[in-house]
Amino acid sequence: MVAPPSPLRVGVLGCADIARRRMLPAMAASEGIEIAAVASRDADRAARTAREFGCLAVHGYAELLRLDEVDAVYVPLPAALHARWVEAALRADKHVLAEKPLTTERAGTADLLALADARGLALMENVMFVHHPQHAAVRELLADGAIGTLHGFQSAFTVPRRPAGDVRLDPDLGGGALWDTGVYPLRAALHLLGPDLELVAALRGSGPQDRVDTGGAALLSTPAGVFAQVVYGLDHAYRSSYELVGSEGRITLDRAFTPPAGHRPVIRVERASGTEEIVLEPHDQVAATLTAFVSAARTGGVPRDAVADCLRQAALLESALLKGVRPLTP
Ligand SMILES: NC(=O)c1ccc[n+]([C@@H]2O[C@H](COP(=O)([O-])OP(=O)(O)OC[C@H]3O[C@@H](n4cnc5c(N)ncnc54)[C@H](OP(=O)(O)O)[C@@H]3O)[C@@H](O)[C@H]2O)c1
Repeated sequence: MVAPPSPLRVGVLGCADIARRRMLPAMAASEGIEIAAVASRDADRAARTAREFGCLAVHGYAELLRLDEVDAVYVPLPAALHARWVEAALRADKHVLAEKPLTTERAGTADLLALADARGLALMENVMFVHHPQHAAVRELLADGAIGTLHGFQSAFTVPRRPAGDVRLDPDLGGGALWDTGVYPLRAALHLLGPDLELVAALRGSGPQDRVDTGGAALLSTPAGVFAQVVYGLDHAYRSSYELVGSEGRITLDRAFTPPAGHRPVIRVERASGTEEIVLEPHDQVAATLTAFVSAARTGGVPRDAVADCLRQAALLESALLKGVRPLTP
C-alpha cells in the first residue's frame, strides 16, 4: 500500500484576524496541512496564537522564513506588505498562499508570479469563492443556453464600515475599498465572462473624513460586447451577489462570495416560462481552497487559468485605480 503524502507544513506570517478566525481553524481541520509555526511582530501575540493552534511561536516574520520545518507560508498581512513578504518567502523556497490582493501593483503581481514559476513554487492568491462549485454550476447553465445569449453581468460586494484604525482605512497599508472589496466582483466577472474583459469606465469615492476610497463602481466589456457592471464598498450594507442577463432569461446568485460552509446555495433561473430554483449541496470553500493550495504545492504550481485570472484582475484593478477618487458629498 502506498503511504499518503506527509502533510504540508505551513507557517503563518502575522496573527491577523482572518488567520485566527478563519484560516488557522480550517488548516487545523485539514488532513493535508500541519500548522508548523505562527509569527508575529509581537512575541506574546505569537505565543498566544501558537498555544491555541499547537505550533511553534516565532517572533518576527524573517525568523519564520528561516525555519527548515516550514514548507509553505500563509501571508495575511495588510495589502501593502504582501509584495515584500511574498517575495521573501519565495526566495526562502516556501510555497505561498497570500491574501488578496496579491499585491497593489500589476507589475508587482506579474513579477511574483514569474518568480514562483521560475523557482517551481506554488503562489496562490487567497480568492476563495472561485473554489465553490456554485460558480461552476452557473457556468454550466450558461453553456447550456439556459438564459439564451448572454448580454450582461452585474455584481456587488459591499460590507459595513470597520472600526477606526482598521488596516483597510489606512492608505499606507494598502487600504481602500477597491483593493479590499472590488477584487470580488471583478474576479467574478473574469471567472464568468472570460479573461478578455476590458475596463470601460470606473468611479471611486471617498467619504469626507476618509483617507482611502470607501466605494466605487466599474463598467467593463468583453470584445463581443457583453457588459459587466460591478459595485463594491466598505461603508455599505452587506451585499454579495451577482446576476447574469441573457436574451431569454436571467440567473441570480446571492451569498456569492463568502457563503458559510453550511449554506445551501440557491441558483435562481428566471425565464418567460417560469422561475426555477436550483438548490445545491453546501460546500466549504475555505477547506476547498486549502485543498487546492496543497495540491498546487505538491505539483509545484497553480493551474495556468488561475494565474492568468490573478494577473488580469491585477491589471483591471490598476486601470480602475488610475481613474482617481472623487469626494462623496455627505
Ligand atoms: N480572503 C478573505 O476572505 C479575506 C477576508 C478578510 C481579510 N482578508 C485579507 O487579509 C489581510 C488581513 O486582513 P485582516 O482583517 O485579518 O487584518 P488584521 O486583523 O489587521 O491583520 C493584519 C496583521 O498583519 C500584521 N501586520 C504587520 N504589519 C502591520 C501594520 N503595520 N499594521 C497592522 N498590522 C500589521 C499584524 O500581525 P502581527 O502584529 O501579529 O505581526 C496583523 O495582525 C488583508 O489583505 C485582507 O484583504 C481576506
